Amino acid sequence: MQQIKPAWRDGYFRARVVTVKNLNTHILEVVLEPDSSWPTHAAGQHIALTIELNGRLTTRVFTIASGANTHQRDKQIRLVTKVKAQGALTPYLHTCVPNQWVNISAPMGEFVWPQTEKPLLMIAGGSGITPFIAMLDDAINNAQVNQKAVHLLYFAKPNEHVLLEELSTFSKRCESFTYDTLTKQRDGDVEAHLSYFADAHWLVCGPHAMFEQVETYAKTISAPVSSEHFAALPVVSHTSLTESETFSLVHNGQSLTIDNQQTLLLQLQQAEQPVTYGCGMGICHQCQCVKKRGVVRDTRTGELSDSAEQLIQLCVSQAVTDVEIQL
Ligand code: FES
Repeated sequence: MQQIKPAWRDGYFRARVVTVKNLNTHILEVVLEPDSSWPTHAAGQHIALTIELNGRLTTRVFTIASGANTHQRDKQIRLVTKVKAQGALTPYLHTCVPNQWVNISAPMGEFVWPQTEKPLLMIAGGSGITPFIAMLDDAINNAQVNQKAVHLLYFAKPNEHVLLEELSTFSKRCESFTYDTLTKQRDGDVEAHLSYFADAHWLVCGPHAMFEQVETYAKTISAPVSSEHFAALPVVSHTSLTESETFSLVHNGQSLTIDNQQTLLLQLQQAEQPVTYGCGMGICHQCQCVKKRGVVRDTRTGELSDSAEQLIQLCVSQAVTDVEIQL
Protein backbone atom coordinates (compact mmCIF):
# COMPACT_ATOMS: atom_id res chain seq x y z
CA MET A 1 0.00 0.00 0.00
CA GLN A 2 2.88 2.38 0.81
CA GLN A 3 4.17 1.96 -2.77
CA ILE A 4 1.01 3.71 -3.96
CA LYS A 5 0.44 6.00 -0.98
CA PRO A 6 3.69 6.96 0.79
CA ALA A 7 3.41 6.92 4.60
CA TRP A 8 0.05 5.17 4.44
CA ARG A 9 -0.57 3.49 7.80
CA ASP A 10 -3.68 1.78 8.99
CA GLY A 11 -5.44 3.92 11.59
CA TYR A 12 -3.60 7.15 10.69
CA PHE A 13 -4.33 9.99 8.30
CA ARG A 14 -1.64 11.24 5.95
CA ALA A 15 -0.54 14.85 5.57
CA ARG A 16 1.90 16.46 3.13
CA VAL A 17 4.47 18.89 4.47
CA VAL A 18 4.00 22.26 2.75
CA THR A 19 6.54 24.48 4.57
CA VAL A 20 8.70 24.43 7.70
CA LYS A 21 10.10 27.72 8.96
CA ASN A 22 11.54 29.27 12.11
CA LEU A 23 9.42 32.00 13.68
CA ASN A 24 12.25 32.77 16.07
CA THR A 25 15.21 30.85 17.46
CA HIS A 26 12.99 28.55 19.55
CA ILE A 27 9.70 28.39 17.68
CA LEU A 28 9.00 26.51 14.49
CA GLU A 29 6.01 26.74 12.16
CA VAL A 30 5.00 23.66 10.14
CA VAL A 31 2.27 23.90 7.51
CA LEU A 32 0.63 20.61 6.53
CA GLU A 33 -1.89 19.65 3.90
CA PRO A 34 -3.92 16.73 5.28
CA ASP A 35 -5.44 14.13 2.97
CA SER A 36 -8.98 15.00 1.91
CA SER A 37 -10.33 12.23 4.19
CA TRP A 38 -9.09 14.09 7.30
CA PRO A 39 -12.07 15.45 9.28
CA THR A 40 -11.75 19.21 9.76
CA HIS A 41 -10.92 20.34 13.30
CA ALA A 42 -12.72 22.76 15.55
CA ALA A 43 -10.43 25.70 16.41
CA GLY A 44 -8.57 24.91 19.64
CA GLN A 45 -8.26 21.15 19.00
CA HIS A 46 -4.99 19.25 18.68
CA ILE A 47 -3.60 16.36 16.65
CA ALA A 48 -0.97 13.70 17.21
CA LEU A 49 1.79 14.05 14.60
CA THR A 50 3.77 10.88 13.80
CA ILE A 51 7.08 10.92 11.93
CA GLU A 52 9.42 8.06 11.21
CA LEU A 53 12.80 8.88 12.79
CA ASN A 54 15.64 6.40 12.37
CA GLY A 55 13.18 3.68 11.45
CA ARG A 56 10.99 4.28 14.48
CA LEU A 57 7.62 5.99 14.60
CA THR A 58 7.65 8.97 16.98
CA THR A 59 4.49 10.79 17.95
CA ARG A 60 3.87 14.07 19.71
CA VAL A 61 0.75 16.14 20.21
CA PHE A 62 0.40 19.66 18.77
CA THR A 63 -2.40 22.18 18.80
CA ILE A 64 -3.48 23.39 15.39
CA ALA A 65 -2.63 27.09 15.16
CA SER A 66 -5.09 27.94 12.39
CA GLY A 67 -8.85 27.96 12.13
CA ALA A 68 -11.22 25.51 10.52
CA ASN A 69 -12.13 28.21 7.96
CA THR A 70 -8.51 28.35 6.87
CA HIS A 71 -8.45 24.58 6.43
CA GLN A 72 -11.64 24.60 4.41
CA ARG A 73 -10.33 27.43 2.22
CA ASP A 74 -6.64 26.46 1.76
CA LYS A 75 -6.79 22.72 2.62
CA GLN A 76 -3.92 23.42 5.02
CA ILE A 77 -3.35 23.44 8.77
CA ARG A 78 -0.51 25.01 10.71
CA LEU A 79 1.40 23.79 13.76
CA VAL A 80 3.51 26.22 15.79
CA THR A 81 5.76 24.61 18.35
CA LYS A 82 8.61 25.31 20.69
CA VAL A 83 11.68 23.28 19.72
CA LYS A 84 12.86 21.44 22.81
CA ALA A 85 16.57 20.57 22.60
CA GLN A 86 16.02 17.25 24.36
CA GLY A 87 12.63 16.59 22.77
CA ALA A 88 11.85 13.32 21.00
CA LEU A 89 10.39 14.95 17.91
CA THR A 90 10.59 18.75 17.81
CA PRO A 91 14.39 18.95 17.24
CA TYR A 92 13.87 16.88 14.07
CA LEU A 93 10.92 18.81 12.66
CA HIS A 94 13.16 21.24 10.78
CA THR A 95 14.50 18.28 8.77
CA CYS A 96 11.05 17.74 7.24
CA VAL A 97 11.03 18.88 3.64
CA PRO A 98 8.21 20.10 1.41
CA ASN A 99 6.16 17.27 -0.11
CA GLN A 100 7.32 14.79 2.54
CA TRP A 101 4.45 12.72 3.93
CA VAL A 102 3.80 12.42 7.65
CA ASN A 103 0.97 10.89 9.66
CA ILE A 104 -1.56 12.73 11.75
CA SER A 105 -4.47 11.69 13.93
CA ALA A 106 -8.02 12.93 13.68
CA PRO A 107 -8.49 16.21 15.57
CA MET A 108 -8.99 15.73 19.31
CA GLY A 109 -9.86 17.76 22.36
CA GLU A 110 -12.61 19.75 23.99
CA PHE A 111 -10.76 23.06 24.32
CA VAL A 112 -12.83 25.10 21.88
CA TRP A 113 -14.68 28.42 21.78
CA PRO A 114 -17.11 28.19 24.70
CA GLN A 115 -20.86 28.54 24.32
CA THR A 116 -21.40 31.39 26.76
CA GLU A 117 -22.92 34.84 26.84
CA LYS A 118 -20.05 36.10 29.01
CA PRO A 119 -17.07 38.04 27.70
CA LEU A 120 -13.97 35.89 27.21
CA LEU A 121 -10.57 36.16 28.83
CA MET A 122 -7.90 34.12 27.03
CA ILE A 123 -4.77 33.43 29.08
CA ALA A 124 -1.80 32.07 27.12
CA GLY A 125 1.64 31.04 28.33
CA GLY A 126 4.44 30.53 25.75
CA SER A 127 3.38 28.19 22.97
CA GLY A 128 -0.05 28.02 24.66
CA ILE A 129 -0.93 30.89 22.33
CA THR A 130 -1.67 28.44 19.49
CA PRO A 131 -5.27 27.39 20.29
CA PHE A 132 -6.20 31.04 20.79
CA ILE A 133 -4.80 32.00 17.39
CA ALA A 134 -6.94 29.25 15.86
CA MET A 135 -10.04 30.34 17.80
CA LEU A 136 -9.55 34.00 16.90
CA ASP A 137 -8.90 33.11 13.26
CA ASP A 138 -12.32 31.47 13.09
CA ALA A 139 -14.20 33.77 15.43
CA ILE A 140 -13.11 36.95 13.66
CA ASN A 141 -13.85 35.46 10.24
CA ASN A 142 -17.27 34.37 11.47
CA ALA A 143 -17.85 37.73 13.21
CA GLN A 144 -18.36 35.90 16.53
CA VAL A 145 -16.03 38.33 18.29
CA ASN A 146 -18.21 41.29 17.34
CA GLN A 147 -20.84 39.88 19.66
CA LYS A 148 -18.70 39.95 22.81
CA ALA A 149 -15.55 41.41 24.33
CA VAL A 150 -12.52 39.13 24.11
CA HIS A 151 -9.26 39.97 25.84
CA LEU A 152 -6.02 38.01 25.61
CA LEU A 153 -3.27 37.99 28.24
CA TYR A 154 -0.25 36.56 26.43
CA PHE A 155 2.72 35.69 28.66
CA ALA A 156 6.08 34.63 27.23
CA LYS A 157 9.75 35.13 28.00
CA PRO A 158 11.21 38.45 26.81
CA ASN A 159 11.46 38.48 22.99
CA GLU A 160 9.71 35.12 22.69
CA HIS A 161 6.19 36.28 21.83
CA VAL A 162 5.22 34.95 18.41
CA LEU A 163 2.48 35.62 15.83
CA LEU A 164 2.26 39.24 16.97
CA GLU A 165 1.44 40.47 13.48
CA GLU A 166 -1.58 38.18 13.40
CA LEU A 167 -2.75 39.42 16.80
CA SER A 168 -2.36 43.00 15.63
CA THR A 169 -4.37 42.23 12.46
CA PHE A 170 -7.09 40.55 14.52
CA SER A 171 -7.43 43.57 16.80
CA LYS A 172 -7.53 45.98 13.83
CA ARG A 173 -10.24 43.93 12.15
CA CYS A 174 -12.31 43.63 15.29
CA GLU A 175 -12.38 46.32 17.95
CA SER A 176 -13.91 44.08 20.60
CA PHE A 177 -10.71 41.99 20.57
CA THR A 178 -7.85 43.41 22.66
CA TYR A 179 -4.64 41.90 23.96
CA ASP A 180 -1.63 42.44 26.20
CA THR A 181 1.78 40.91 25.60
CA LEU A 182 3.31 40.33 29.01
CA THR A 183 6.44 38.94 30.60
CA LYS A 184 6.58 37.64 34.13
CA GLN A 185 9.78 39.60 34.75
CA ARG A 186 8.19 42.94 33.87
CA ASP A 187 4.49 42.40 34.60
CA GLY A 188 4.47 39.92 37.47
CA ASP A 189 2.50 36.70 37.77
CA VAL A 190 -0.74 36.08 35.93
CA GLU A 191 -2.68 36.44 39.22
CA ALA A 192 -1.96 40.17 39.29
CA HIS A 193 -4.03 40.62 36.11
CA LEU A 194 -7.05 38.44 36.73
CA SER A 195 -9.19 40.56 39.05
CA TYR A 196 -10.11 42.92 36.17
CA PHE A 197 -11.87 40.07 34.37
CA ALA A 198 -14.02 38.62 37.13
CA ASP A 199 -17.15 38.63 34.92
CA ALA A 200 -15.56 36.78 32.03
CA HIS A 201 -15.35 33.12 31.07
CA TRP A 202 -11.64 32.26 31.32
CA LEU A 203 -9.72 30.05 28.93
CA VAL A 204 -6.17 29.11 29.87
CA CYS A 205 -3.48 27.29 27.90
CA GLY A 206 0.09 27.24 29.11
CA PRO A 207 2.47 25.72 31.63
CA HIS A 208 1.01 23.76 34.50
CA ALA A 209 2.11 26.36 37.09
CA MET A 210 0.16 29.05 35.25
CA PHE A 211 -2.90 26.84 34.98
CA GLU A 212 -2.78 26.16 38.73
CA GLN A 213 -2.57 29.88 39.56
CA VAL A 214 -5.49 30.66 37.28
CA GLU A 215 -7.58 27.79 38.54
CA THR A 216 -6.94 28.65 42.19
CA TYR A 217 -7.86 32.30 41.62
CA ALA A 218 -10.93 31.37 39.57
CA LYS A 219 -12.22 29.23 42.44
CA THR A 220 -12.05 32.17 44.85
CA ILE A 221 -14.32 34.27 42.65
CA SER A 222 -16.28 31.41 41.02
CA ALA A 223 -15.16 32.33 37.51
CA PRO A 224 -15.77 29.59 34.92
CA VAL A 225 -12.50 28.21 33.47
CA SER A 226 -11.74 26.02 30.47
CA SER A 227 -8.17 24.79 30.15
CA GLU A 228 -5.69 22.87 28.05
CA HIS A 229 -2.24 21.75 29.14
CA PHE A 230 -0.15 19.08 27.54
CA ALA A 231 2.72 18.60 29.95
CA ALA A 232 2.12 15.41 31.90
CA LEU A 233 0.32 16.34 35.07
CA PRO A 234 2.27 15.85 38.25
CA VAL A 235 1.70 12.43 39.75
CA VAL A 236 -0.98 12.61 42.41
CA SER A 237 0.43 11.37 45.68
CA HIS A 238 -1.39 8.53 47.30
CA THR A 239 -0.51 7.54 50.82
CA SER A 240 -0.61 3.82 50.17
CA LEU A 241 1.99 4.29 47.43
CA THR A 242 4.68 6.16 49.32
CA GLU A 243 6.43 2.81 49.95
CA SER A 244 7.94 1.16 46.93
CA GLU A 245 6.48 -2.28 46.28
CA THR A 246 7.18 -4.81 43.59
CA PHE A 247 4.65 -6.75 41.55
CA SER A 248 4.67 -9.03 38.57
CA LEU A 249 3.60 -7.86 35.14
CA VAL A 250 2.55 -10.69 32.87
CA HIS A 251 2.30 -9.86 29.20
CA ASN A 252 1.92 -12.25 26.31
CA GLY A 253 3.09 -15.18 28.40
CA GLN A 254 6.20 -13.43 29.81
CA SER A 255 6.63 -12.15 33.35
CA LEU A 256 8.48 -9.05 34.50
CA THR A 257 9.09 -7.71 38.00
CA ILE A 258 7.90 -4.12 38.20
CA ASP A 259 7.44 -1.50 40.90
CA ASN A 260 4.60 0.84 41.79
CA GLN A 261 6.67 4.02 41.33
CA GLN A 262 7.12 4.17 37.57
CA THR A 263 4.62 3.80 34.75
CA LEU A 264 4.06 0.45 33.07
CA LEU A 265 5.28 1.96 29.81
CA LEU A 266 8.60 3.09 31.28
CA GLN A 267 9.23 -0.27 32.88
CA LEU A 268 8.39 -2.19 29.71
CA GLN A 269 10.78 0.06 27.78
CA GLN A 270 13.51 -0.40 30.38
CA ALA A 271 13.04 -4.15 30.01
CA GLU A 272 13.39 -3.67 26.22
CA GLN A 273 9.96 -5.12 25.54
CA PRO A 274 8.42 -4.17 22.20
CA VAL A 275 5.71 -1.68 23.01
CA THR A 276 3.87 0.86 20.89
CA TYR A 277 3.61 4.35 22.27
CA GLY A 278 3.41 7.95 21.16
CA CYS A 279 2.98 11.07 23.27
CA GLY A 280 3.89 9.49 26.63
CA MET A 281 1.33 11.70 28.39
CA GLY A 282 -2.03 10.01 28.03
CA ILE A 283 -3.28 11.87 24.98
CA CYS A 284 -2.67 9.88 21.79
CA HIS A 285 -3.87 6.45 23.03
CA GLN A 286 -1.16 4.65 21.03
CA CYS A 287 -0.01 2.84 24.18
CA GLN A 288 -3.50 1.59 24.90
CA CYS A 289 -3.75 -2.14 25.62
CA VAL A 290 -6.06 -4.61 27.31
CA LYS A 291 -5.50 -5.22 31.00
CA LYS A 292 -6.64 -8.78 31.66
CA ARG A 293 -6.44 -8.60 35.45
CA GLY A 294 -5.01 -6.53 38.28
CA VAL A 295 -5.46 -2.96 39.51
CA VAL A 296 -3.61 0.04 38.10
CA ARG A 297 -3.54 3.63 39.17
CA ASP A 298 -3.95 6.58 36.77
CA THR A 299 -0.92 8.80 37.41
CA ARG A 300 -2.85 11.92 36.35
CA THR A 301 -5.72 11.59 38.77
CA GLY A 302 -4.70 8.95 41.30
CA GLU A 303 -7.84 7.00 40.37
CA LEU A 304 -7.68 3.22 40.72
CA SER A 305 -9.01 0.88 38.03
CA ASP A 306 -11.14 -2.08 38.94
CA SER A 307 -9.58 -5.53 38.68
CA ALA A 308 -11.55 -6.72 35.65
CA GLU A 309 -10.54 -6.73 32.00
CA GLN A 310 -10.43 -3.20 30.56
CA LEU A 311 -8.48 -0.89 28.29
CA ILE A 312 -5.65 1.04 29.93
CA GLN A 313 -3.00 3.48 28.73
CA LEU A 314 0.45 2.20 29.70
CA CYS A 315 2.06 5.65 29.86
CA VAL A 316 -0.25 6.86 32.64
CA SER A 317 -0.69 3.61 34.58
CA GLN A 318 1.21 2.33 37.60
CA ALA A 319 0.74 -1.11 39.17
CA VAL A 320 -1.14 -1.37 42.43
CA THR A 321 -1.31 -5.18 42.35
CA ASP A 322 0.14 -7.89 40.10
CA VAL A 323 -1.06 -7.09 36.60
CA GLU A 324 -1.58 -9.02 33.40
CA ILE A 325 -1.84 -7.21 30.08
CA GLN A 326 -2.13 -8.14 26.44
CA LEU A 327 0.22 -6.08 24.29
S1 FES B 1 1.72 7.13 24.64
FE1 FES B 1 0.15 8.50 24.06
S2 FES B 1 -1.43 7.91 25.43
FE2 FES B 1 0.21 6.71 26.07
